[in-house]
Amino acid sequence: MTVEAHAKINLTLEVLGTRPDGYHELRSVVAPIPLHDDVAFSAAEGDSVSVEGCDGVPPEKNLARRAALLLREASGCRKGVRIAIAKRIPMGAGLGGGSADAAAVLTGLDRFWNLGFPVERLMALGAEIGSDVPALVHGGVVLMEGRGEKVSPCAGFPTPPWEKLVVYTPPVFSSTARVYGEFRETDRGAGKNDLQPAACRLYPGIRDALRKLEAEGCRDVMMSGSGSTVFGWRE
Ligand code: C5P
Repeated sequence: MTVEAHAKINLTLEVLGTRPDGYHELRSVVAPIPLHDDVAFSAAEGDSVSVEGCDGVPPEKNLARRAALLLREASGCRKGVRIAIAKRIPMGAGLGGGSADAAAVLTGLDRFWNLGFPVERLMALGAEIGSDVPALVHGGVVLMEGRGEKVSPCAGFPTPPWEKLVVYTPPVFSSTARVYGEFRETDRGAGKNDLQPAACRLYPGIRDALRKLEAEGCRDVMMSGSGSTVFGWRE
């Protein structure tokens, strides 16, 4: 059984403040894009859980593996699984690649193991893995709030002209934790993504990427998530 794990872009991203847990209070419109990894499930001997295809990611930091272990623990399922990921979504790119894989593991394994968990339960498990996971478990264009755990379908948001979307990931690995650490109150409201000024200060290659898309005639050019991906709309 194979499922698609779609990357996301953030059409807006507001940082509303810091939280007692050290995270930031967010409000962001998150939308899936066609770019995706393929996540394949097959039966494994005994109760072993293995994940292939995430080269360079240490097992304890592999969000897909954490998702599988968390779901097995939450369900009491004693089956094993072999998960093979064909990776296309770049890492450190603000496209939610690791979160997309984790979301696909939660929804895919729920089916593969016949667990029948409601989507709300899968989203709650996702929130334990990463801030973007609940939105990607839900799917579609959503408003994400809180740390990322509050997700609602985004009915009122104008449908973007998807056929005009241009996405560019420069050769820059952006650390989400570093970008949030660099965020200053004065960055707020400077554009549609409050993290963009901080990311550009840390990684000048992101500023260059924004300028490149503008020079190519794209409009409303902005950064996705904590970078490094930028996107805009062809005239
Ligand atoms: O939840 P996730 O693992 O994606 O977050 C990565 C890092 O981004 C966190 O360690 C934290 O520094 C920062 N973060 C934050 N506030 C959020 C989401 C992420 O400060 N709402």
